[in-house]
Amino acid sequence: MENINNEFVLEMLNISKEFPGVKALSEVNLKVKPGTVHALMGENGAGKSTLMKCLFGIYQKNSGKIFLDSKEVNFQNTRQALDNGVSMVHQELNQVRQRNILDNIWLGRYPKKGLFIDEQKMYEDTVKIFKDLDITVDPRQKVGSLSVSQMQMVEIAKAVSYDSKVIVMDETTSSLTEKEVEHLFRIINKLRKNNVAIIYISHKMEEILKISDYVTVMRDGQLIGTKKSSDITIDNIISMMVGRDMSNRFPPKQNHPGEIILEVEGLTENIKFGLKDVSFSLKKGEILGIAGLVGSKRTEIVEALFGMRKIDSGKVKLHNKEIINKNPRSAMENGFALVTEERRSTGIFPQLSIEFNSTISNMNSYRSNLLFLSNKKMGNDTKWVIESMKVKTPSTKTPIGSLSGGNQQKVIIGRWLLTNPEVLMLDEPTRGIDVGAKYEIYQLINELASKEKGIIMISSEMPELIGVTDRILVMSNGKVAGIVDSKNTTQEEIMKLSAKFLEGDSYEITS
Ligand SMILES: Nc1ncnc2c1ncn2[C@@H]1O[C@H](COP(=O)(O)OP(=O)(O)OP(=O)(O)O)[C@@H](O)[C@H]1O
Ligand SMILES: [Mg+2]
Repeated sequence: MENINNEFVLEMLNISKEFPGVKALSEVNLKVKPGTVHALMGENGAGKSTLMKCLFGIYQKNSGKIFLDSKEVNFQNTRQALDNGVSMVHQELNQVRQRNILDNIWLGRYPKKGLFIDEQKMYEDTVKIFKDLDITVDPRQKVGSLSVSQMQMVEIAKAVSYDSKVIVMDETTSSLTEKEVEHLFRIINKLRKNNVAIIYISHKMEEILKISDYVTVMRDGQLIGTKKSSDITIDNIISMMVGRDMSNRFPPKQNHPGEIILEVEGLTENIKFGLKDVSFSLKKGEILGIAGLVGSKRTEIVEALFGMRKIDSGKVKLHNKEIINKNPRSAMENGFALVTEERRSTGIFPQLSIEFNSTISNMNSYRSNLLFLSNKKMGNDTKWVIESMKVKTPSTKTPIGSLSGGNQQKVIIGRWLLTNPEVLMLDEPTRGIDVGAKYEIYQLINELASKEKGIIMISSEMPELIGVTDRILVMSNGKVAGIVDSKNTTQEEIMKLSAKFLEGDSYEITS
């Protein structure tokens, strides 16, 4: 069956895919025109990544047909997909970090001069693509030394080097700063002008309407519909995604900040790019946000409090008593918990069950006597995590690695909630999480605060910080640029403070 004169570069027809116990896709259709940005949206676990992996040859579909330029294709592996003009920038970056950028782009198809690799040509071709895309890193650099955004840019450059007709971007912007997102959008626009089709997966609503021409929404492995972006609103998309109207993205506040529990005075690291004289306080029942550009040392604050960084001067007082968290263990004993930003790379044991991954930080509370762990309590706690975080999984014994990206994160957040901390620190807790689940997380944060926990939340999403927190501490270049009242602040004020101690454009993508 060949379609002639097709207006679509890619047609995926009636695609179905099953995993043991999960029907991930049922008869999904996706048709994409050349020179368009086609957003693919849906809640965590809806099947977006799976659909794209079936296209890209990572998974084999169980049924359905895929046409590329009207020719039926069925890629057995990613190399075949790449060679035929389909590339994918992944949700989980999987470049070889020890190698340099050139190797990552050209591995397996080095340009040759006789028997040897033509280093010169390889370098020049890469530089040319980088220049086209405004990427200012040296291609001889090791991939491990790049920022997440730079790694993604390299992946896009790789897609371009394969002359791709279809480029899939799976949550490419989830960890980028606004500046970096702007850069990415410039690249996307350039590709679109060159007739490339881009399939764009993101949970950021504002972004979707700004960059896409079409939006396809999936729910529970099924296609809900495809619309022109110019014909719809964010609310339309949300109700297609969750199957109901969601008029409020943030739950009403119910916490009442009380006395001070934590005081941080003059935290300083004697290194050039470290924390400088960071002071603030946190009250019982308060949600304190931390804003700032990537590189402003937001994460360093919570790492320092959690005993992961060496502090050269400064004091931390808990209930008016000075404490020193030498390491994460002593921090946990003092009632601190930290949900890290890089949950997927540092906090997950992919082969092990959801139960193990949920309960691992809370082992002490399962010792029923010296030798045995209480299986019942572990089982119940795991069920609590699954229910309260609305984790989509067939069972508590499922390996966490087989869950969708967002669902893995929900388990890890649940893990820390189980430790019942006094000071809960969350680093980008809703990154990569869908609107419905975000709401659940906001609600949990709110509930914890109303139970008199102190909460510190780092986020790059300003509407979220303003909507969820009581006060916002804005970091700029390792220093506190200001602490504002969330009720009376604006995005502009926060942006201004974020730039307060910047020298030049040092936060831009440079090598
Ligand atoms: N390798 C696998 N083994 C078993 N189940 C899987 C596997 N990959 C995905 N699934 C299941 O398929 C469903 C769809 O997952 P998928 O990763 O496609 O979701 P998604 O829409 O990309 O979600 P997210 O927004 O969280 O990334 C989920 O229920 C997931 O648990
Ligand atoms: Mg996904």
